[in-house]
Amino acid sequence: MLTCPEPAANPVLWPWGTKREEDGQLSFAGHKVTELAQSFGTPSYLFDLDDFAARAETISSAMAEEFWEGYGFSGASVYYAGKAFLCTALGNAISRAGMGIDTASLGELTVALNPAMGVDPKKIGLHGNNKSVECLRLALRSGIGRIIVDSLGEIDLLQSLCESENATAPVMVRVTTGVHAGGHSFIATAHEDQKFGLSLASGAALQAVKKIISAKNLQLVGLHSHIGSQIKDLASFQVAAERMLAFRAQVQKLGEPVPEVDLGGGLAISYQGEEVPTASEYARSLASSVKRACQQAGSDIPHISIEPGRWLAGPVCVSLYQVGTVKDVQLEDGSIRKYVSVDGGMSDNIRPALYDAGYVATLASRVSDAPAVSCRVVGMHCESGDILVPEIVLPADVNAGDLLVIPATGAYGRAMASNYNLVPRPGVVGLSGKSSPRYIVALETVDDLLRMDVGIVGLSQG
Ligand SMILES: Cc1ncc(COP(=O)(O)O)c(C=O)c1O
Repeated sequence: MLTCPEPAANPVLWPWGTKREEDGQLSFAGHKVTELAQSFGTPSYLFDLDDFAARAETISSAMAEEFWEGYGFSGASVYYAGKAFLCTALGNAISRAGMGIDTASLGELTVALNPAMGVDPKKIGLHGNNKSVECLRLALRSGIGRIIVDSLGEIDLLQSLCESENATAPVMVRVTTGVHAGGHSFIATAHEDQKFGLSLASGAALQAVKKIISAKNLQLVGLHSHIGSQIKDLASFQVAAERMLAFRAQVQKLGEPVPEVDLGGGLAISYQGEEVPTASEYARSLASSVKRACQQAGSDIPHISIEPGRWLAGPVCVSLYQVGTVKDVQLEDGSIRKYVSVDGGMSDNIRPALYDAGYVATLASRVSDAPAVSCRVVGMHCESGDILVPEIVLPADVNAGDLLVIPATGAYGRAMASNYNLVPRPGVVGLSGKSSPRYIVALETVDDLLRMDVGIVGLSQG
């Protein structure tokens, strides 16, 4: 039966400053959960800003070390994939680590461009399989460094927008390499039968490149591949790198320089205490496959970039819930399953329902000598699939009022949250040794939801 490893036993699962205090409470960056729950309420996301900054430095320096000029490379760039979780409070850490930002919507692009982020627009990229005209215009007007085109139609659209804006667009081609990787088929984005990218195998990627070369206002700055998410097997990155670099060599034969190859995001994190590759192992493996692939292709080594999201934001954040109803349910085989309901659920973490994503949970406000029993942690929503952790060992006396924590919820948690059942989305509390805890994304209120409900304007009531 699955148990949640304690912070001392498995630090990789927990934000940096997580500790089990003497009174049995978990504390985050020196703040006990009961204090945090009192100040910020539950559910809340507790996000360790110092840990995020440290991870940003770690992955940037791992890439810089492995892609060092002395080894024949021209350095490497790291773009934080803002879709994992983006707010201006992260800007400082991102810019200090020398990272750029990968965006995928008008909202993400607008936040990335906010001067409070402190990120040079040249270090911002724009993705999307169906980018809006408004979004593309903003990208052109703000002079971002790369627009990653995802279809042949988008190339025509971008060319005509460039003409009307009197601009030149730096573009990359999103290439579907055919490599299938990741924890779930919905997030394994580089197999052929899916909406992203232009296929290497069918020739669509080459067609896109030729179209860009002949477009007056488009400049090919690189090729891009993203093969999926939560990838533990480094060999899949290697295969993708080999295919991308072979393709680059093919493009170079057209007489077109391809200065950069972006190998996307996808590096896995630990959700249940399992081992995952470190940033150094990942960077080393990537560097050696890039070098080998360039040698095989007989080409120079391009500038390499990557786009990690989950790896940066995921492990630095936990979800804090309060337990409400606890119910013993008899199963068909006669055994008992304890259903532990918390005050959040699929609205603040859709990943278990969407992807069968596995998490663990632990009692955070106390420790207990009660026997360990098998529990199911469920949310408060009107869906029987509103399950956060299908099976986890908790003390038998877990009860209403207890605080429960689920680690590793920083990526695609708040970012994918919804208002299902008209539930306000939880706030994100930023924790740092340098300042007292404060919201970095405010808690929504029912008033916020009511503001959106504009009624039937102009129609007399009753
Ligand atoms: C194009 C692209 N880049 C980067 C990422 C980030 O992936 P991850 O958070 O797994 O690192 C994604 C995630 O879907 C993506 O689609």
